[in-house]
Amino acid sequence: MSGSGSATSESGAASSESGVLFVDHAGVLGGAELSLLDLAAAFGAGSETLLLAEGPFRTALESRGVKVSVEPLGALKHVKKETRLPGPAAFTDAVRIARRVARRAKPHKVIYANSQKAFVVAAAAGLLARRPVVWHLRDILAPPHFSGTNVRAAVTLANLRAARVITNSRATAAAFMAAGGHASLVRVVHNGIDPAPFDAVTPAAAAATRAALGVPADAFVVALFGRFHPWKGQQVLLDALTRLPRVHALFVGAPLFGEEAFASALQAQAAKTGVADRAHFLGFRADVPELMRASDAVVHASVYPEPFGRVIVEGMLAGRPVIATRAGGVTEIVDDETGVLVPPNDAEALARAIESLAGDPGHAAAMAARGAARARKEFTVAAMVRGVEDAMRDLL
Ligand code: UDP
Ligand code: GLC
Repeated sequence: MSGSGSATSESGAASSESGVLFVDHAGVLGGAELSLLDLAAAFGAGSETLLLAEGPFRTALESRGVKVSVEPLGALKHVKKETRLPGPAAFTDAVRIARRVARRAKPHKVIYANSQKAFVVAAAAGLLARRPVVWHLRDILAPPHFSGTNVRAAVTLANLRAARVITNSRATAAAFMAAGGHASLVRVVHNGIDPAPFDAVTPAAAAATRAALGVPADAFVVALFGRFHPWKGQQVLLDALTRLPRVHALFVGAPLFGEEAFASALQAQAAKTGVADRAHFLGFRADVPELMRASDAVVHASVYPEPFGRVIVEGMLAGRPVIATRAGGVTEIVDDETGVLVPPNDAEALARAIESLAGDPGHAAAMAARGAARARKEFTVAAMVRGVEDAMRDLL
């Protein structure tokens, strides 16, 4: 790509500042990380990525040719977004990490933080290294996602230390500004998703994936893709399933950030409500395009406002009818023409929406086709990369 990526070599000379130091606290593959994967790959060899945890994200970046290093967090790792205030050990840890990040930032023009934890570290590192810090804000900074204290701290730090705040939706931007974030900092850049892996799924591959699931041939299969967390709403789809005897549901994802108890509770809920034979818990999967094309509909069921929701765009790219909850950034992706919008946390409405799709395949297919066309046009990786470049152009 142009601009930042084409800058100087990686010779390491501090005087030849090149591109961007991308920083992410996670080692696992959440949506924020999958979005950064495409971005960092597009920025090319003049930039590099620093992770604050080991894990599969590192391998994924390396396989895309991105230069990566890891500086693991210590006590800071245990600070959760619902926490009111981090303890002193976490602050000491933040200082230690900030020094290391500052050293890594020296050959670059900009430090870009892809998560809230990364932003805290990057803000300190930016001071030490005298580099501007860009925060790619991918969360809706409001309760119940975050405690009020956490929101105030994050927004105050952003107003003081962020040269720019890129948000993944207008909804994310609105929450930031409602919490006192300066509007002048904000640039909205929607995520883009590469359609190629979805286009590459042959009907035979989709049929083989479906056969491997062991669902009856006449079942209507819906699939929810997402890490296991109460706000992603797996419990609502399970509840809806009790009203839909012919429907099977795939739950694709894992408790990525320590939500194992919730994952067990879901299994228990399935057993208790008698839907265990129709609820398929598949764990974290790398074959999302195949699984989407093996399903009859893709369900998004987040009970709190979703900041963006990559899975919705992916369902559209897979050519599947999408049902999503009407809140947050979702309505910037899908409308009543290109999907079915249901109220959050309403199992009955979700069941009705699934039933209506199952009962009218012609309508479902037409809607899916409109969704696919929209996703291909509006949510491209190229537009996302251009948006981020434009948002940082004066800093690079
Ligand atoms: N995903 C995946 N394997 C899984 C479940 C989910 O690769 O088993 C991917 C999914 O395809 C999507 C991302 O994880 O690209 C989730 O992103 P989204 O923006 O929907 O939600 P987030 O987890 O970031 O809140
Ligand atoms: C976050 C949000 C999700 C968004 C993703 C990529 O993980 O929860 O809604 O799609 O970031 O920006």
